[in-house]
Amino acid sequence: MSTVAVLFVCLGNICRSPTAHAVFRQIVIAQGLDSKIQVDSAGTGDWHLGRAPDARSTATAAERGYDLSDLRARLVTSSDFAHFDYIIAMDNSNLNDLQVMRPSEFSGELELFLNYPAKDRYSGYTEVPDPYLGGAEGFALVLEMIEDASLGLLEHIKAQLQQSDMAGG
Ligand code: 4NP
Repeated sequence: MSTVAVLFVCLGNICRSPTAHAVFRQIVIAQGLDSKIQVDSAGTGDWHLGRAPDARSTATAAERGYDLSDLRARLVTSSDFAHFDYIIAMDNSNLNDLQVMRPSEFSGELELFLNYPAKDRYSGYTEVPDPYLGGAEGFALVLEMIEDASLGLLEHIKAQLQQSDMAGG
């Protein structure tokens, strides 16, 4: 089986994308795919570089068994497009910023995370909303959406890996 690399991107890289990083990584490990699928996260803004994730994200995720403690904020760069096969934006603003950076030779997928739905529970949403200035319920909603979308993204990637294996890629 070939290998792929997945990058989750939000604005600060301290709330949504590190949550997605930890949740998706854990599901990948649980399915025995961690030697096939590499996971990382980054932000489009530089306010929190080198910092640990927001304590509210860390606590909300820890209640459901996800560990964010090893993650540190970094900026997304144009060289990420050379390494990652899937660059996953949390909202349309992140997606627009990434589309501006996107080199013409990038042949991977640059997509909104909620374009990979596992269930219909969040059908009213097209974006993972920024929880930074809101209350605890925003962080809980973000975690639920990320758990749901992670399953959808992983199914999509597994199907693509199988196709490329069958094609000898
Ligand atoms: P994130 O949330 O993009 O999900 O990490 C934010 C974190 C910090 C800021 C904005 C959004 N900020 O403006 O500092």
